[in-house]
Amino acid sequence: MSALLCRLEEIEDGGSKGPIPVEGKDIFLVRQGHAVYGYVNACPHIYASLEFMPDEFLDDSGEYIVCATHGALFRIEDGECVAGPCKGDMLTPVTLTVKDGEVRLAA
Ligand code: FES
Repeated sequence: MSALLCRLEEIEDGGSKGPIPVEGKDIFLVRQGHAVYGYVNACPHIYASLEFMPDEFLDDSGEYIVCATHGALFRIEDGECVAGPCKGDMLTPVTLTVKDGEVRLAA
């Protein structure tokens, strides 16, 4: 059975959760309705963690993941940096399953 990360309702809809330590890395989760996206918590250019505070990975609009250091913006759906020093680079995705209200690492 793959590792349970949290229950879906523990992530605010339109919000984010993390960092969560998993297999020696920190990851974070972003929820959009029933979809949850997961990424390693490291920007692609200097591998800095992204959050402003725990569970605060999104910009004010809630439309992008934001780097608290530079304000670099990353698309929630695929982790591509669309503005900032690593424009065009990608966050490292974490494959998840969401089933029966549980968010798990995919096996
Ligand atoms: S520290 Fe790398 S995008 Fe801001």
